[in-house]
Amino acid sequence: MDLQKLLNEMTVDEKLAQMTQLVPQIITDKGEGAVTGPMRNFGITRKVTSKIGTLLGGTGAEQLKFLQDFHMDEDPHKIPLLFMADIIHGYRTLYPVPLGLGASFDTELAEQCCAMAAKEAVAGGLHVTFAPMVDLVRDARWGRCMETTGEDPYLNSKMSAAMVRGFQGENLEKDKIAACVKHFAAYGACDGGRDYDAVELGDRTLREFYMPAYKAAVDEGVELVMTSFNTLNGVPSSANKYLVDDILRKEWGFDGIVISDFNAFYEMISHGIAANEKECAKKALDATSDIEMMSTCYVKFGKQLLEEGEITEKQLDDAVMRILKLKEKLGLFDDPYRGASVEEEKRLHLCKEHRDLARVAAEKSAVLLKNDGVLPLDENVKKIAVIGPAADHGMIGGWFCCGTVAEAVSALDGIKGIAKNADVKLAFGSTFDPNEKPEAVADRISEAKQLAAECDAVVLCIGEEMDMSGESHTRARISISDAQAELVKEVCSVNKNTVTVIYCGRPLALEKINDISPATVIFWHPGTEGGNALANLLFGKVNFQGKLPMTFPYEGQSPYFYNHLPTGRPNGNGGYCLRYLDTPYEPVYPFGYGMSYTTFEISSPTLSSNEMTEDGEITVSVNVKNTGNAHGIETVQLYINDVTASVSRPVKEMKGYQKVELAPGEEKTVTFKITLDALKFHTFSGEYKAEKGKFKVFVSNRSDVKEFVEFKLI
Ligand code: NOJ
Repeated sequence: MDLQKLLNEMTVDEKLAQMTQLVPQIITDKGEGAVTGPMRNFGITRKVTSKIGTLLGGTGAEQLKFLQDFHMDEDPHKIPLLFMADIIHGYRTLYPVPLGLGASFDTELAEQCCAMAAKEAVAGGLHVTFAPMVDLVRDARWGRCMETTGEDPYLNSKMSAAMVRGFQGENLEKDKIAACVKHFAAYGACDGGRDYDAVELGDRTLREFYMPAYKAAVDEGVELVMTSFNTLNGVPSSANKYLVDDILRKEWGFDGIVISDFNAFYEMISHGIAANEKECAKKALDATSDIEMMSTCYVKFGKQLLEEGEITEKQLDDAVMRILKLKEKLGLFDDPYRGASVEEEKRLHLCKEHRDLARVAAEKSAVLLKNDGVLPLDENVKKIAVIGPAADHGMIGGWFCCGTVAEAVSALDGIKGIAKNADVKLAFGSTFDPNEKPEAVADRISEAKQLAAECDAVVLCIGEEMDMSGESHTRARISISDAQAELVKEVCSVNKNTVTVIYCGRPLALEKINDISPATVIFWHPGTEGGNALANLLFGKVNFQGKLPMTFPYEGQSPYFYNHLPTGRPNGNGGYCLRYLDTPYEPVYPFGYGMSYTTFEISSPTLSSNEMTEDGEITVSVNVKNTGNAHGIETVQLYINDVTASVSRPVKEMKGYQKVELAPGEEKTVTFKITLDALKFHTFSGEYKAEKGKFKVFVSNRSDVKEFVEFKLI
């Protein structure tokens, strides 16, 4: 396809329509689509909607083929539609929410999961996913913790690149879809953890912590970038020339499509930086935003802006060319349906191979926080109680796309599947309602307690309902509800053989139950195969290996993150020092923490040298030994602290990790190479460099390690 020729033939109105994205129900009353924001009457006519370039939220081969036909019949140049949707943790077969995937610390797994989602989505007629979402988050109150891989720039970057590879493959092969990294930038740093709220960040913090994961996606060749809703230092991202044009395009060399978030152009008016839709359009185009999602500032005012000399046709052409290029790359000009196929949907969706992968992902994402000898459960147990609001519920996660709860395996089903000879009983105990008081469910709690007393083992399934995290689901209080805490207390008082399984899309404050529950597992929102994965873990068919990708704080500590700066008055020195009056200073569980059915001993790190030159490298080695009785996988983590620099540096920053698989008694040496890159930071004057001086090196299986060795950069 000669794209330049096509572009030359297009009118200004056609170009502006190409740059507009709507939901299917706006172009035809036969269309249905997921609506994830406000809908207005845009007051646009069929003349406009028949020429638009992209749709969001439609799914399924049948629907998308219909929409493509409907569009192609009317589009003057027969430019196919691009179909986009939120395929965040699976299309039909769902794997754990990204925070769970982050806990696996397994980039290969993340890649495989995204590749599976891509395959299913291609059959369903989709071309683009609004993923990966890689916003670094430090505040557990933010509902969208669920969609990201957590608080660490290193882990987030590795995951970000892996997810892009999984979705896009080498070069958007036939079973791949284009990825759209989001939300650029720093959306996770919203004030108070309140979704959509403002972000104020210094350039150094922005670049060091928040930018690396977006950059990793760009370096991996991501095709699209979605700008975020929030203002960053006063400017909403869709209008943020510094962010989009200066950093993303010029500094990082991104030449793909920049798309806004839902209605974000129009929201410039509420942000108070544009008086009307015409100004929104001008600001967005000046920031090189290519596609306007779910508002109509471009189609309504673009032409007028051009006639008045406020924008140039070159600006439009650049944007449209980027859109046409992606359509061409995906092969849509040759085959507008691409892989959309009802037969393939039947063959692939929820097929055994996909369910198996979803199960493995849920197993690898689970984090064992505590085990006072309760786990693994005995398979020959006679009577087992599965209790709690998540007990008989397929916890598929908030961005379930085409998956359904009915297709998912609940904890109850999974346990029944393994403990075949046991009498498996169910009790609800409480609801998910965070404000529920124990008195309101006293009957249910006492029924659960009675059942627990009669059973040999109890699996308590509590936490957050799937729709208690995600977009617009900020919580001010992240504690386990009083009713659920009472349920744990009452059940544990009559049965010490109890494991509490916590389903959540964010870190929850666990202090109400942490000491009471003899064994505790964080299971996130695990997806379609959750129940089977859980049963395999609890009965010891597979071992735990997940590590927390975010700090689990006490109520009131958020935002709390391990890689914070030191203070002049560190905690531990009494009053007038860093502390809380009403909770401990340390979190309930730190970043990087997670147990196993075996134990690992990690030796003190040794360095190949105590000095490193700028062009040299240092090797850090530890011996890792499996000192328990089970086969296991440990995630060995490397942290560095720049002791003296021209600006204060974080107390610890993860610079590498490795997963080591060890049989009981087996020992392996794990080595990490430290080069200058790992020591670089953004100086006060804006340089990115390493400074000479002392560095501490920590190697452990959790971030709150105290022991270190030192070297000097000379
Ligand atoms: C709003 C969300 O912020 C974004 O993540 C999502 O991709 C869009 N809606 C489209 O559904």
